[in-house]
Amino acid sequence: MNPVTATDPSVPAPAASAPLLLEVEGLTVRYGALTAVDSVGMRLAVGRRHALIGPNGAGKSSLFAALAGAQRTAGGQIVLDGQEITGHDEAQRAKAGLVRTYQHSNLFSGLSVLDNVRVGVERTEGQPLRPWPRRRADRRIVEAAIESIERVGLADRLNAPVSALSHGERRQVEVALVLACHPKVVLFDEPTAGMSAAETHHFAALIESLPDTMAAIIIEHDLDVVFRLAHSISVLAAGKVIASGTPAQVRDDPAVQEAYLGSGRGDEPLFEEVSR
Ligand SMILES: Nc1ncnc2c1ncn2[C@@H]1O[C@H](COP(=O)(O)OP(=O)(O)O)[C@@H](O)[C@H]1O
Ligand SMILES: [Mg+2]
Repeated sequence: MNPVTATDPSVPAPAASAPLLLEVEGLTVRYGALTAVDSVGMRLAVGRRHALIGPNGAGKSSLFAALAGAQRTAGGQIVLDGQEITGHDEAQRAKAGLVRTYQHSNLFSGLSVLDNVRVGVERTEGQPLRPWPRRRADRRIVEAAIESIERVGLADRLNAPVSALSHGERRQVEVALVLACHPKVVLFDEPTAGMSAAETHHFAALIESLPDTMAAIIIEHDLDVVFRLAHSISVLAAGKVIASGTPAQVRDDPAVQEAYLGSGRGDEPLFEEVSR
């Protein structure tokens, strides 16, 4: 299969040794006459963090919804770790290992951190929702939940109700929930939106520490975060990938400058120099 589409000639080839976790070809989303995602191709190797950037209305959220199975597509193919999942619904994709975090919190504020993560794992596994764990059958899930809560740095908040957490801590719980499901690919939609500078810094470190057995795609408007985290970047404009490559390649691409700033407004640099 050749995942590089005619409209997306610049997708860099990953190292031959790194297995691909996600291969997307020709993905298209239409809302009536509007083509919001226009034949997008993308490849993601294990252990990689890919950033998706682009102006408002570019189609980033529509692309994520289509990848997650929450949005009907007008065409395209999605292969997760060698398995074709194009026909899977959102729950089936999550179970297969493709999950997304939400821009707005998806947590139960009255439940504890532990119960939120546990219930989230049960939902992903397709088990019936229960407000309390059954003793034996759920031991494995509770242990996985505790492990991932510790991993995101919330061990001391295990039994705190989510309503008592800060905004940044809630996003950490969402990551713990995702990690406890042992995903292959995680889609983060604007994870640092609404965070303080300190929370953003902490969160970026958390993303950097994700297991290298998985891969992530991050929609992020904070370009400092993008350049800190991303191994590669795609720029979406009007539904099309207009540039894709390493952070340095993308930063220097004239089409990217144009898409962000428009013609005749290139007097200030789009990206500040960031050392990685
Ligand atoms: N449910 C919808 N129905 C109709 N148009 C939509 C819908 N969602 C998004 N759009 C339009 O599709 C385009 C892409 O939107 P979106 O995917 O939200 O872009 P981004 O996340 O990059 O800001 C925009 O023109 C937006 O107005
Ligand atoms: Mg959006």
